[in-house]
Amino acid sequence: MITYTFRRFLVALIVAVAALFAPTECFLISDSMCRMYAETTRFGEFSNRESSSFQVMPRFNEDDKMESPHLISGIMWNRRKILQQAATIATSSLLMPHLPATAASSVSSFVVPSPPSSPSTTWPLGKVAFSLLPLAGTSTRRATVEETIIPDTMWTHDQIQGIVNVNVPVRMTTIRLKDGGLWVHNPVAPTPQLLHMMKCLEEKYGPVKHIVLGTVALEHKATFGPFCQKFPQATVWVQPGQWSFPLDLPIDALGVTQKGKQFRELPVPGKRATNSVFRASEKYGLPEWMDEIDYEVLGPLEFESVGAFSETAFFHKATKTLLVTDTVVSVDKNPPPIIQEDPRALLFHARDNITEIVADTPENRQRGWRRMVQFGLVFFPSQITVVPATEALKEASKIDPSMKNLGDGAVPLNLYPWAWDGNSDERNFEAISENGALFCPPILTKLILDREPQKTLEWVDRVTQRFAALKRIVPCHLNNYIPATAKDFSRAFEPLRSTPTNLRPQRPLAEDLSLLQEASDLLTDLKIVGPSLVCDGEAARKVGRFASQR
Ligand SMILES: *[C@@H]1O[C@H](CO)[C@@H](O)[C@H](O)[C@H]1NC(C)=O
Repeated sequence: MITYTFRRFLVALIVAVAALFAPTECFLISDSMCRMYAETTRFGEFSNRESSSFQVMPRFNEDDKMESPHLISGIMWNRRKILQQAATIATSSLLMPHLPATAASSVSSFVVPSPPSSPSTTWPLGKVAFSLLPLAGTSTRRATVEETIIPDTMWTHDQIQGIVNVNVPVRMTTIRLKDGGLWVHNPVAPTPQLLHMMKCLEEKYGPVKHIVLGTVALEHKATFGPFCQKFPQATVWVQPGQWSFPLDLPIDALGVTQKGKQFRELPVPGKRATNSVFRASEKYGLPEWMDEIDYEVLGPLEFESVGAFSETAFFHKATKTLLVTDTVVSVDKNPPPIIQEDPRALLFHARDNITEIVADTPENRQRGWRRMVQFGLVFFPSQITVVPATEALKEASKIDPSMKNLGDGAVPLNLYPWAWDGNSDERNFEAISENGALFCPPILTKLILDREPQKTLEWVDRVTQRFAALKRIVPCHLNNYIPATAKDFSRAFEPLRSTPTNLRPQRPLAEDLSLLQEASDLLTDLKIVGPSLVCDGEAARKVGRFASQR
């Protein structure tokens, strides 16, 4: 009983955290750790409700002596050892994600070398800004890839964000204004490397004049204030309806030091500013850059309990380019440049199981990317088999030396508590990718926007009518500079138009959506969000390991 409730709680927690921070498969890692913890504390067996591959763990007897060994899944353990192990995992994952376990050992024997750590790619503030979660690019290395999207006009800077090696690009976009100077959208972490790149652009095209935050999502907010502090002369524009997790901190908690006329909320016609600080600066009027870059604000869509979703689409008229944060993405089989910059995470996921040795080939990088994307978008891909915790630990000690650095700084103890079955997941990836056709991520269509489909679709219509000429889209994640029309943009939101008589399928296969479906039902039950107003055919409730058969 306890374990079932606990499991449901875990699902809710993970999805809530994932929605706020980054797509993750930390569910599995934390699940493994919880199982080990449960063993050591005799909290009871985990029941095997959803997946036949979960093993019922042997329990410890109260009379057992601390030092007496027990046989679990073929390995010898004693309780102290397991406790130590659990403590190590907890520590390494929560407090010291940068565990240099293999850093000093024979570097040359690795299939891909660990990149040297350099002050130019570190951002020490990251750990605080993102809380203590072991996110890639917080206390670990955080490199930047610059791409010139349109020569002399538009650039993107990609860094990675992720958890336990499920990494996705996080992207900022810089536009050169007509009269000189730069306009920056959703800035990433101001590492020395990024600041150097910005300095080069400023020398050529003029200073950073405006910095714009077009979202309330934490992963973009956390880097916003620190970036703005490096450009004190710039005017700062923020998305209406800011809030902070876990506390509803005042707007100043963003870390922005600009004040008065330099610190503004994006004005929405016919609406007052959402915060008293910004009501005072309303008198300064519309943004100076509006004749070049127009915008449409979605939300804030308030959740039932705490928080809101809100995002702005910006349209750069001269180049017919639309900038969004999370609402639409595109993905294909090629890993983006920032993900290939350090290919270790790709090869980490290219393995079918932890004992497999893989070579650094384009094919294996694509296989790793395919799986990373599935973890990132649906959290619990249907094609994985879960490996019981004790077995995962045992296997982790047998990992080939050439593969040992793949999880450094990201994955506690090199755990790989799942297995893939060759290329069986290709079909699932292709359903998500549709060769790079634009789509709205399922976490939004299943958990957030489906609570307000009307308001969302009205925003979609405003975007497509007012910016009908759009030719390219630059989102903040996954593929960059995507060729797309207004019609493609509108089509990305098809799942929100589903009715009982006209079902519009989600992009991932139903079997891959079962965790999100369970989370959706659960978050509704817990009154964290209202009920879904979109008829999804409920296919995801009937298939897959989380099928609840409601
Ligand atoms: C691991 O995966 C490889 C490649 O698919 C396979 O040959 C091997 O048998 C697997 N090992 C185990 C223990 O399942």
